[in-house]
Amino acid sequence: MRIGRVLSGGLLMVAWAGCGGGSVTPGMVTAAQRRWPETSREELERGQETFSAKCKECHALPSPRAHTADEWVAITRKMGKLAGLDAKGTESVLRYVTAARDAE
Ligand code: HEC
Repeated sequence: MRIGRVLSGGLLMVAWAGCGGGSVTPGMVTAAQRRWPETSREELERGQETFSAKCKECHALPSPRAHTADEWVAITRKMGKLAGLDAKGTESVLRYVTAARDAE
């Protein structure tokens, strides 16, 4: 259920989702494809699910806008390991947060 997913994302997620409904928008797919042409909407959705499930285990869910795209590369590499993600999972989280901040 969509509303349940948004609520379980915590306060930051709700605040941030105010403008995007917390779902993957066409604008985000376009933004991701500017950096990674083969990105699919499904990959961004997987990234979003992984992000909202795994990235609030140790701290509040970070806002995609809190860091630049370059910073997110280093952060997701480091945090992906802490969260036990594989390379593919880490990449989908990176693409999701980058798309979410780019698609403004
Ligand atoms: C096992 C615990 C743990 C998990 C899981 C975890 N983090 Fe973190 N995170 C930390 C700790 C500890 C810090 C602060 C120390 C540091 O930066 O290494 C941190 C810091 C951060 C920061 C701030 C970095 C900065 O430079 O200001 C961001 C952003 C972040 N995490 C994002 C994520 C994302 C995205 C995920 C999911 C892929 C995630 N974290 C999963 C423990 C975790």
